[in-house]
Amino acid sequence: MVQIILVLILAYLLGSIPSGLIVGKTFYKIDIREHGSGNLGGTNTFRTLGVKAGLAVTLADILKGTLAAALPLIFHLDMNPLLAGVFAILGHTYPIFAGFRGGKAVATSGGVLLLAAPLMFLTVLAVFFISLYITKYVSLSSMIAGVTAVLYAVISGVASNWNIPLLIVVVLMATFVIYRHRANIKRIMNKTEPKIKWL
Ligand code: G3P
Repeated sequence: MVQIILVLILAYLLGSIPSGLIVGKTFYKIDIREHGSGNLGGTNTFRTLGVKAGLAVTLADILKGTLAAALPLIFHLDMNPLLAGVFAILGHTYPIFAGFRGGKAVATSGGVLLLAAPLMFLTVLAVFFISLYITKYVSLSSMIAGVTAVLYAVISGVASNWNIPLLIVVVLMATFVIYRHRANIKRIMNKTEPKIKWL
């Protein structure tokens, strides 16, 4: 039990590593939360600091989720990787190392799915890019990706086996991702949400 609690704390701390803040402050001397959408995430890093920084932050945020979900395997613990993943997502969103002002849970959730449900991850990623190509909105595509994960879990449950922990976690993830995009939803409705120009 103590080991499980320690792994959950470690997963939270891992998720709390503010990659956007580290890259922004170290290489550009700026806090990206004071620019663009104000979000501490890959999209706002792309927007504010360009492709190289955006890619680095997005990959680091994905990796945090993957690594956190791998902790139970690394420490040979009998616990669901998704549980550690959830704590990394909380860390990414409410980071102890960045005043609890973090990101919108998208990349780190993706990283958790990459380890816990790779086929679901690939499907969700494909839907994300198709949606991005059509709508040009990263925020809307992120929410559509979250809903896709839920649909995937339900469809695979009906078709073969129900994975109840995965279903619960993706419902929580999608709900949380939509909740964290409240400001984006308002901007989409006002037609003031920025569209990407490079796809
Ligand atoms: O992953 C976050 C993305 O969906 C939206 O980011 O900066 O446009 O609010 P942003």
